[in-house]
Amino acid sequence: MTAIGRREFVGAVLAGGAGVLTPGWGPVGGAVRGGRARLADSHIDVLVNEPIGTIAPELYGHFVEHLGGVVYDGVWVGERSRVPNIGGIRQALVEALRPIHPAVVRWPGGCFADSYDWQDGIGPRDRRPHRTNFWGDDPHLRALGDVPAKSEPNQFGTHEFIHFCRLIGAAPYLAVNVRTLPARVFMAWVEYCNSPAGSTTLAQQRAAGGDREPFAVRYWGIGNESWGCGGNFTPEEYAAEYRRFATWAVPAYGVDLAFIGSGPSGGDLEWTRRCFRELAERRSFDRMWGWALHHYSSAPNGEALAFDEPAWYDLLSSANRMESLITSQWQVMGESDREHRVKLVVDEWGAWHKMTTNVDPTHLFGQQSTIRDALVAALTLDTFNRHADKVAMANIAQLINCIQSLFLAHEDKFLVTPTYHVFALYAAHQGARAVRVVASAPPVSWVDGQQRERALWGLNGSASLQRDALTLTVTNPHLTEPRDAEIAVRGAAVTAVRATTLAARDVHDHNTFEAPRSVEPATASVAVSASPFVYRFPAASVTKLEIAIGR
Ligand code: AHR
Repeated sequence: MTAIGRREFVGAVLAGGAGVLTPGWGPVGGAVRGGRARLADSHIDVLVNEPIGTIAPELYGHFVEHLGGVVYDGVWVGERSRVPNIGGIRQALVEALRPIHPAVVRWPGGCFADSYDWQDGIGPRDRRPHRTNFWGDDPHLRALGDVPAKSEPNQFGTHEFIHFCRLIGAAPYLAVNVRTLPARVFMAWVEYCNSPAGSTTLAQQRAAGGDREPFAVRYWGIGNESWGCGGNFTPEEYAAEYRRFATWAVPAYGVDLAFIGSGPSGGDLEWTRRCFRELAERRSFDRMWGWALHHYSSAPNGEALAFDEPAWYDLLSSANRMESLITSQWQVMGESDREHRVKLVVDEWGAWHKMTTNVDPTHLFGQQSTIRDALVAALTLDTFNRHADKVAMANIAQLINCIQSLFLAHEDKFLVTPTYHVFALYAAHQGARAVRVVASAPPVSWVDGQQRERALWGLNGSASLQRDALTLTVTNPHLTEPRDAEIAVRGAAVTAVRATTLAARDVHDHNTFEAPRSVEPATASVAVSASPFVYRFPAASVTKLEIAIGR
């Protein structure tokens, strides 16, 4: 692939892409070569001297709930399983997670968390109680008759979760039961996890469970969706619960505890306004580190694979709401928390489709994933990067076998989805300094399911800097048309560019156990002689440009 500098480019005719060609598919992207007379209609300016903030590695976090096939079959196969495992944890999952640096994992729910007693999940596994799973009465599971997914065998408890986190190098984030257990049980969980070796009866119990040293758990979610499955509280009632659980009395055991309040569903600004007002009135923000926002995107027909053009754009547009959700919630939080000490934590997000493509019927909310979902992941992660000053953590829902998963697994079969590849591409942003990007491109437009004219930006992305390495990630949402953009790096010279592109031959392609590599990225170096340069972003694609810079 080649690239041309701006001077060569201006006044040149665009003769087509010089990208790598794959059979049956157009250019997978690349610098645009030669010709005469047409300018790129899109521009991306990367302003390396305009920092936004450090991109918290925790923005690239995950979520594991005791729901359908997430824990049992997904993460936990058991020590005696024929599925290769590390102390009962699926080995293939651990190996696939390590390279993408999962900074944090939220567990055990979701709605399940407000029904869970952590004390059921400690002690010898063969003596742990079997309980009814929160999701056991879901109509899908009910229709399946007597399936294990309806009950909770407690084989995967606090120790197993902490071991999983250690294997993959992630911090644990525990979601606390506010709906059905008293604050005292939460405090005992904190003591069990964090009290120094041998210091208390609970620390001794922890040692008897195999872990003498404390787990040093920092992140604790005080309830989940407390406006709904987590208690159906009013904002004022929840604020009172938060105070009871979180203020003053929780010993820190030397850990910088970070509590996460149960925030709104999507755009519910009144939940935030009223909770924050109540907390501010009692000066009860102490230890509230994050405010959890949940946003799931969907398209009208709800199908993961059988989607048409409106459903393509409708889903991307639904995911794109994340931008306004962050800014509007942030503004309302600032009405009571003027210094913005509390940051946003988007601890559930993703594309949620109908359950028609799960790899096993017991995998409740299981679904397949295409390049459309990859674009949802990419544009959402770009949004988080652009708001690195506001969003401190985010957790895609859910890690495996549920909603927008990075992995699908059943028994000994395992695959990575297109969404996994986005996380791999974007790993370079973790811990880097987000810098401002100004993009302009002709918008894409479509007529939605209700015959309304709709529009979405034509290109979007984010950039971050780590020493001399600039990472620019860009999504082209156009279903059929590639987009040529003139890319200018302002404030630095470009010395080399490498491009990795995730696209699909057909947008409905997806990875299956039989064909696990149908959708995967391709990398190529780009011959760039100067900045600005022109780059062609293929239709329906996610691109990472690794730009080496000199000053
Ligand atoms: O992720 C599935 C469910 O969605 C979670 O349990 C709940 O918090 C949300 O409504």
